[in-house]
Amino acid sequence: MKNLIIYYSKSGNTEIVAKTLSSQLSGDLIKIRDYKERNNFKSKITSVIDAFRESKTKISPEKLDLSDYDLIYVGTPVWVANPVPAIITAIDTYNFKGKKIILFATMRTVGGNKAIQRMEEKFQARGGRVIKSFTIKTQQKNTSQITGDTFSVINALNLESNSDTL
Ligand SMILES: Cc1cc2nc3c(=O)[nH]c(=O)nc-3n(C[C@H](O)[C@H](O)[C@H](O)COP(=O)(O)O)c2cc1C
Repeated sequence: MKNLIIYYSKSGNTEIVAKTLSSQLSGDLIKIRDYKERNNFKSKITSVIDAFRESKTKISPEKLDLSDYDLIYVGTPVWVANPVPAIITAIDTYNFKGKKIILFATMRTVGGNKAIQRMEEKFQARGGRVIKSFTIKTQQKNTSQITGDTFSVINALNLESNSDTL
């Protein structure tokens, strides 16, 4: 069975982690898009409110068949110590029942553990089994530093093992 990495990224940090995982663990990669405007100044405030309230949003892909995968990585940036609306929506929309899940979050400095915990609660309620998780701090880090941090996590958590043994 294949691995899958699903992620959302607004400014590219979570994407660096997701792409590094995909190349190192030979997993398929799917970027979740959020149709709501998230890039102008006003949208920063609405994004904070949406994340705080765990508001749903319209995402692409709208539907996703996960039947080919038994191990799925799910990655989010941290917004006000929560997962982003697109990932909240994905968890509530796609069928993760019976899947092994590894969660990851990137954040400037703090809030990653709470965001991971919140995702874990949501997956538990939907029959997904979270087996590992990790966070990566991105403040003042360039691409190669974030890539390096991801390599360290892959080694520390032994993610290169066959998914059957995880
Ligand atoms: C709306 C918003 C809220 C954020 N809230 C937090 C936070 O609570 N804690 C933190 O350390 N970083 C916070 N950040 C920073 C992002 O989590 C961090 O830059 C992350 O790596 C961005 O990932 P991306 O480049 O994949 O979008 C926030 C960023 C935005 C846009």
